[in-house]
Amino acid sequence: MDTLKDTLISAIRTIPDYPKPGILFRDITTLLGNASAFRRAVDQLVYPYAGTKIDKVAGMEARGFILGGAVAHQLSAGFIPIRKKGKLPHETVRIAYSLEYGIDEMEMHKDAVQPGEKVILVDDLIATGGTAVGAVSLLRQMGAEIVAACFVIDLPDLGGRKKLEEMGVKVRTLVE
Ligand code: PRP
Ligand code: ADE
Repeated sequence: MDTLKDTLISAIRTIPDYPKPGILFRDITTLLGNASAFRRAVDQLVYPYAGTKIDKVAGMEARGFILGGAVAHQLSAGFIPIRKKGKLPHETVRIAYSLEYGIDEMEMHKDAVQPGEKVILVDDLIATGGTAVGAVSLLRQMGAEIVAACFVIDLPDLGGRKKLEEMGVKVRTLVE
């Protein structure tokens, strides 16, 4: 039977040893290039919030921009880009974070969210959770209310989901 999970899993390509030896890279470009799989993934991310008031969707550079932009459009919400350091032109808040294969710093414009605004965080994948924990910290620092963090893929062995839940964030993922 063609379940949503089967469709999504078969649309995701796995590349061994990228970007470093030992990493199994889950490549969503094949999912994005498959019109039906892309639509079904976005619809599935969106449906719990249809008809509820979501002010903004926050997406993490770069893959979170693609999915988060589509989700924001569907919900008639604004979009907040959370970017790697040095890319945003106005005043920012910045945080260092680590992920499965490195360390980096991310930033958000200080005026991207107003205190009390309801925000959904969207990304393609959660692994160690370093990226998502950093993004939640920045958004909360500026007073956002995080309604949920939503991902297409969870790599549960890396523990990211648990870290977010320990911060009191509701987590939704489509496939493991
Ligand atoms: C990937 C992915 C998530 C993050 C997850 O982004 O899109 O944002 O890693 O890893 P974590 O849970 O261990 O933090 P990456 O930093 O590779 O950036 P990209 O989207 O620009 O490829
Ligand atoms: N980001 C962190 N870990 C990843 C993985 N294994 N595949 C794709 N993106 C990732």
